[in-house]
Amino acid sequence: MTQERRRYYVGLAASLHDPAIAILSPEGLPLFVEGTERYLQNKRAYNCAPDDLIRTPRLIEQFCEPDAELIVAVSWSDQMLRNLSMASFASFVDPVSATFMSQHMNEFAWPLPESDLMLIGSRNNLSQAGINLKSSRRIPNAAIIRRYDHHMSHAAHAAYTSQFDECCVAVVDGYGENRSTSLFLFNEGRLEILPGQSWDSDAELRQQVSLGHFYARICAACGFDPILGEEWKVMGLAAYGHFDPSIEKILHPMLRVSDLGLKVACSDHELRIKLDDLKRIGRQPGQAAEKVADLAATGQHVFEDWSTELLLGLHEAAPSENLALCGGCALNSSYNGRILERTPFRHLHVPSAPADDGCALGAAMLAFVEDHPGVTLPAGAASAYLGSTMSPTALQNLKSFAGLRDIERTRTDLLNEVSDMLIEGLIVGWIQGQAEFGPRALGNRSILADARREEMKDRLNSIVKFREEFRPFAPSVLDEYGAEYFENYQTSRYMERTLRFRPEKMRIVPAVVHVDGTGRLQSVRHEWNPLFYDLISAFNQKTGVPLVLNTSLNVMGKPIVHSLEDALGLFLTTGLDALVVENCVLRKKEMASALF
Ligand SMILES: [Fe+2]
Repeated sequence: MTQERRRYYVGLAASLHDPAIAILSPEGLPLFVEGTERYLQNKRAYNCAPDDLIRTPRLIEQFCEPDAELIVAVSWSDQMLRNLSMASFASFVDPVSATFMSQHMNEFAWPLPESDLMLIGSRNNLSQAGINLKSSRRIPNAAIIRRYDHHMSHAAHAAYTSQFDECCVAVVDGYGENRSTSLFLFNEGRLEILPGQSWDSDAELRQQVSLGHFYARICAACGFDPILGEEWKVMGLAAYGHFDPSIEKILHPMLRVSDLGLKVACSDHELRIKLDDLKRIGRQPGQAAEKVADLAATGQHVFEDWSTELLLGLHEAAPSENLALCGGCALNSSYNGRILERTPFRHLHVPSAPADDGCALGAAMLAFVEDHPGVTLPAGAASAYLGSTMSPTALQNLKSFAGLRDIERTRTDLLNEVSDMLIEGLIVGWIQGQAEFGPRALGNRSILADARREEMKDRLNSIVKFREEFRPFAPSVLDEYGAEYFENYQTSRYMERTLRFRPEKMRIVPAVVHVDGTGRLQSVRHEWNPLFYDLISAFNQKTGVPLVLNTSLNVMGKPIVHSLEDALGLFLTTGLDALVVENCVLRKKEMASALF
């Protein structure tokens, strides 16, 4: 009798941007998930295959049994391939984007590439996804390609990584197969699209607008680059500005919430006038970012108003206490922190990678669920620590060839020494275990510092991160102390929401308090990251402050480091004082004297 081959599920996020690969075990447990940008060290990895021919065979060999069958789950459906066969991508993109593209392509920093190039790039990425994996001679496994709806992939990622038995799921995105926003119901493992979103006619689809593209436009008007994902900067800058009713008059009449989605709310002619107005009030060449802080603040305000209206409509259509939110707009941590105040939802889950990279995991989960109806996915799916580890060979080579002595520590000594370094005011790179999946460093690929030192923000910006002064740094706080430090505290496991500090705590940790009194926090529990929890605990025991500054281990414009070589390059070319790799402590002074 022949034994059935075990099936592994390989998810591929195959958008033009943020490709990623996920591998699920035959039991549905995520074994590995990583954005392609990390491996390539190429921010957002535009136009890159998630299953490239060099790396993927090694991953399959590492994580799958030799004779396993591979189900390759791609995060876009066949319908999207048909959409991409249309004569012009501009007509597929929403009217606000399309109008702006045609009117101002060369005049103003509209974020998207030319429509023809987007069409070709997207079609290539999507049609080739999985082909490398299926055809590589270095992957002996049988592979079957399946395609899944993009927003369904987003929704699966959000729902199956939540702890909810039932919830509403909102996908608020740049675009999907035929909608920019999709709403789902999740109940006992079943995910279904919410009725009432059937925009089938071409006329209705042409009226559709994307909240993601709206925010990208505000980002570009503020002089930042949404291609690089600089929407973060709008949120950081917004805190320096004020709501301006005259700007709202330009922005708000563009769109309206209708039938559980967003539609254009004015004529083409009116839209062009408004976009000209936006161009007029946008950041001009040579102007400081602070000059458009009111635009950032008002854009964020309008974004929040529309988002709230959408979520209120969702709750009315499907009352639930629980909301799982994903899609690119779920990266808006400022709004995420306000959702529970502004809507009847009582619990919010945003996964660690809510943007398109998360669809790799979502698509793999859909494939698993399709094969195992009624089987619950394992709870381990909620961990963010699913990426690569540092190469032990590289670490061994460092020890052998760099002439460094006595760099290894016991666990106790490591925690004691690193907490002391932070207290001394040193800036420490901290690399442990598997890298985080998603854009945030959550204590495995982090730069850590003492948040009590007011000067730390400027030091980090000027000698390590090389970025604008107005951008804040995040706090990582022990979860049980969260309510002592933040008003209306909510656990923020993946650094996905921004909350207001209690006034009496702001002066204690000034380096992580943004100008508006908020912080985009990470809540840390022992069960989620024992070593990081113990490090903050050691710091707390010595200082009485259960919180450290935590920013990603990268420099501006680069992805978070992937290899030890990347990390050493960053260490030696920035003002980092020390680099901790697993149990090894490298101090800049000793390193420099050993090398030079
Ligand atoms: Fe998406």
